[in-house]
Amino acid sequence: MRILIVGNGGREHALLWKLRRDAPAAGFYATRPNAGMAGMARAVDIAPTNVEALTSWAESHRMDLVVIGPEVPLALGLADRLEAAGVPVFGPSKAAARIESSKAFAKDLMSAAGVPTAGYRVFTDAARAEAYVLEGGGPCVVKASGLAAGKGAIVCDDSDEACVAIRQMLVEGSMGDAGREVVIEERMTGEELSVFALADGERAVPLVASQDHKRIGEGDTGPNTGGMGAYAPVSLATDNLIARVGDEILDPVLYALAEAGCPFRGLLYAGLMLTNEGPRVVEFNCRFGDPETQVVLPLLEGSLLDPMMAIADGSGLAGHRAGTAGGAAVTTVLAAEGYPGSYRTGAAMEIPESLADDPDVLLFHAGTRHHEGAVLTAGGRVLAATGLGRTLAEAAERSRRAAREIRFEGRYFRSDIGWRELARN
Ligand code: AMP
Ligand code: GLY
Repeated sequence: MRILIVGNGGREHALLWKLRRDAPAAGFYATRPNAGMAGMARAVDIAPTNVEALTSWAESHRMDLVVIGPEVPLALGLADRLEAAGVPVFGPSKAAARIESSKAFAKDLMSAAGVPTAGYRVFTDAARAEAYVLEGGGPCVVKASGLAAGKGAIVCDDSDEACVAIRQMLVEGSMGDAGREVVIEERMTGEELSVFALADGERAVPLVASQDHKRIGEGDTGPNTGGMGAYAPVSLATDNLIARVGDEILDPVLYALAEAGCPFRGLLYAGLMLTNEGPRVVEFNCRFGDPETQVVLPLLEGSLLDPMMAIADGSGLAGHRAGTAGGAAVTTVLAAEGYPGSYRTGAAMEIPESLADDPDVLLFHAGTRHHEGAVLTAGGRVLAATGLGRTLAEAAERSRRAAREIRFEGRYFRSDIGWRELARN
């Protein structure tokens, strides 16, 4: 069996790690693998966004499965092209991926399907958008409608802040094309929860729920990032809550997408806020989350490959369930100084051997590369150090210790991943 992983971040390293456990005899390939993936998969030197080249490569090398990690190739239609070429693929079509690639599309779909989410309006004209927030006056969230690598949402305390964000996106083009259309949302309050569900176009099979830490600073302060750490399980995510998420959110959205002629096959990520009125959607993503995958997959009991193949070959998820192993997982992201703003790459990394041998620590590389026998940083988020434990406190301690022991110039990480859950216990 031959499996190609598209993408080379921490999420893809975790996918590769899990799929290799599920199919030790398979041949693995990855696009431009980072330094951690390089020893586990053969390198394919094609950019994930080069849809044509990847499709012909996968076809001519007779891949049995292509797993698409990031949203951009999905939004560009890589899954459609592979499917048309007869290559089994895990990841939604371009049309279904609009659930992430167009926030305006996602909001309209949710509103039509009666899925609980923040009230919203869509604008392309700055003056109209400003008039709208000035009229409302209170807190709101200004979002670029298109893909913005997790940095497209500005949470505003008042209309002055919102007007600044509107001008930056619609007038100054701070988010490029992604911000030519903005969604202005009611600001919700509550704790956030990431629910990943495997989906075959009709059925959703949720994996263990996790919590991301999107802000750069400890105590959840400062600007949003792609995610600075995550943990699972989350005690707020009771069986009842997850059943409610299935009934009120996942099932209606899958149904609405199928009705719209674009059934969702792949991983549907519901980013939720647990408000006083119940779970409400903050956003949908059309792929696994990063860094949540680095805690969700280590806790998954049983195969990931089986349901992925069942989705890819059309046999579907009937009879599949995703069990959770006991214990807890915490991941701490090591970032380069300056991230999520501009940052430097090319710093030499020291990763102690003892960490690689520790069964309770998993190192998932993100922005790293090999150069002349050394491992160098090559991105804003550099590596995710996952700690496993019987309790969350134990897992958090192992994750933090691993983060501390990995060294590179300008290394930054949050020491408080899991703090909300630890405060509850
Ligand atoms: P998004 O890019 O839509 O995932 O938003 C990024 C982050 O901004 C979320 O994880 C939330 O912390 C925050 N956020 C987004 N939308 C809202 C909202 N309507 N109310 C409150 N916070 C929000
Ligand atoms: N961790 C947030 C995301 O993957 O979008």
